[in-house]
Amino acid sequence: MSKFHLHCTKCGYDIPDFKEWFDYMQKCSKCGCTIVDVEYSRDYSELKNLINAKNGDVKSIWNYFDFLPLNDKNNAISRGEGVIPLERWAFLEKFAKEEYGINIKTHAYRNDLNPGTGTFKDVAAAVAASVLKENGVTEFCIASTGNIANAYAHYLAEAGISIAVFVPREALMANEAEVNSYGQRLFRVDGDYAEAKKVAAAYSKKYNILMSGGNTDPMRVEGKKTMVFEWLRQIGEVPNVYVQALSGGTGPIAIEKAYKDLNGLGLVDKMPRFVMVQPSGCAPMTHGWEKAKMDGFPEGWLSDYPSYQNPQTKVPTLATGTPGTYPIIANLVKRTNGEIIEFNEAHLVDVARLIAYETTIRIGPAAAVAVGGFFEALHKGVLKDGDNVLVNVGEGVGRAPDFVEEMMYTTKHVSNVEECERFDREVYRQELWDKVKNMYK
Ligand SMILES: Cc1ncc(COP(=O)(O)O)c(C=O)c1O
Ligand SMILES: [Zn+2]
Repeated sequence: MSKFHLHCTKCGYDIPDFKEWFDYMQKCSKCGCTIVDVEYSRDYSELKNLINAKNGDVKSIWNYFDFLPLNDKNNAISRGEGVIPLERWAFLEKFAKEEYGINIKTHAYRNDLNPGTGTFKDVAAAVAASVLKENGVTEFCIASTGNIANAYAHYLAEAGISIAVFVPREALMANEAEVNSYGQRLFRVDGDYAEAKKVAAAYSKKYNILMSGGNTDPMRVEGKKTMVFEWLRQIGEVPNVYVQALSGGTGPIAIEKAYKDLNGLGLVDKMPRFVMVQPSGCAPMTHGWEKAKMDGFPEGWLSDYPSYQNPQTKVPTLATGTPGTYPIIANLVKRTNGEIIEFNEAHLVDVARLIAYETTIRIGPAAAVAVGGFFEALHKGVLKDGDNVLVNVGEGVGRAPDFVEEMMYTTKHVSNVEECERFDREVYRQELWDKVKNMYK
């Protein structure tokens, strides 16, 4: 019996392997649907043993090899991705107690520590590179707002696969540089992400090269689902609130897939409330959601959402102005009693400074959107007494040198020692917290 197959969510046909999936350009060969669930023939209760693995024994997401869509372990590409800590951020708990009178638990999920490219795209790219290698793919292409481009460029290079990356005009220079440095080809498209996707699709068609299937791509979803297994392995539970910066929404889709795998094993019950956060410069999903909420979620609400051309945002990584996955994501958010909110990006730097001060962790702009979303959720009453909150810190600051420069606030220019007074770093603490407290005054 084969290890896994791809189950079409529309017609129920079981696509036997990736070969057929790729031969039909990543569509169901019977009905043309692009959304499939990978199903495994092993007994799913074996997942429990993998989730019980001891820290030292877990080297990467390939700890979960038995439930990942690869046949031969020798094809696994890995840099040790996915084995990243959940850290208790007590200073946020203290803030919630003092300012809002609620007791919550808060963990940060440190995707900035991923050893591939330092974002939560590494787990997806590791699985994709391995599957492509196993299936003899030598050329691939992808459209990306930035981080997935880096991760794929890196992991596919390790697999010896050439990838053409299409990014929008506004993509960060550091993303471009990193893709280039791996010897992968980058096309900067004169337009927004929707435009970059169009050119990438045309390239894929012209040369008959496979293109990454976007947020529902089974290789990406299978990679990202392992985050739920890691939460269970590391802290023995899935927190009941999940906060993440939202672009296309692979994160929540992957969490739902993990829950399908874990179904009936007694390890989890309900999915966490999804609190998804968009930057104010590009928040089409938030706007669709707010409208639907105001109208009482009328019939057809899932297909009623705006599309923004050339969104201007400080966070190009999250600049999905035409959110084709809105119907999937909004439906998931609704089912979990979650929220899609936005965070005023004028305050991103203040949030990142505060986190660096309190933890010495320098988070990137997309991660600052998630942490900002935590404050926003507190302010809006979305977080409740007793909640156990996980904030996905999706990236470190490495990708955004301009953002690092904006974080400066202590420099004083001097010409002699008379101008240099001693200092105590405590003086900054109040200042930084006041900035955050004053966001809503
Ligand atoms: C750091 C970071 N956080 C969050 C996201 C959003 O991921 P998604 O909306 O696909 O779940 C991205 C996507 O580019 C990202 O790079
Ligand atoms: Zn089908």
